[in-house]
Amino acid sequence: MTVVFIGGSRRKDSLNAKLKHRLAEVADKHGIRHDIVDADALDAPIYHGDLEAADGVPESMKKLAEKIQSASKVVLVSPEYNSSVSPLIKNAIDWVSRVETQAWAGKTVLLAAASPGGLGGIRGLSHLRDILGNVKAWTAPLFACCPNANDESIAAMDESFLKQFLEQGEAS
Ligand code: FNR
Repeated sequence: MTVVFIGGSRRKDSLNAKLKHRLAEVADKHGIRHDIVDADALDAPIYHGDLEAADGVPESMKKLAEKIQSASKVVLVSPEYNSSVSPLIKNAIDWVSRVETQAWAGKTVLLAAASPGGLGGIRGLSHLRDILGNVKAWTAPLFACCPNANDESIAAMDESFLKQFLEQGEAS
């Protein structure tokens, strides 16, 4: 199994990037092969049809589609902005959905968030679940790891959530 970890914030001190690395550490501990996508790799112009007609899908998004396609499972870690999903993630989902392979279709995806807010980003994750349903991904229960998140709460997060996700569908 290979799990791809994708984060939705390019901020230097991003809580969600820290959560992404923390989750990848847990995968590592359980001997799961994984690939951590740097948030800068999601850099692409905001989708519009004329751009696509003129230049096709950006190389960065084709590469991302390949990573998703070849993964057994995906972990998406997104900040919540105004009760919804990170625009970086939404744009990447839109571009990847324009690649012929339809990499999201049938993929099992864990949606996770960390937020300094009291609800931990759960509202954004429920939007993200709707969007991914549209591109035919299967989503695991949502993981708002750390309401009022900070370095300490991310370090102390409940690991069992990721473990269950990794074990789901695997022969025991
Ligand atoms: C936020 N933030 C935020 N937090 C939250 O829990 N619910 C929300 O609706 C919002 N809305 C929101 C809008 C905008 C425009 C910004 C810039 C921020 C706070 C956000 O969760 C916080 O800044 C996180 O630290 C951002 O994620 P990273 O960059 O730390 O991963």
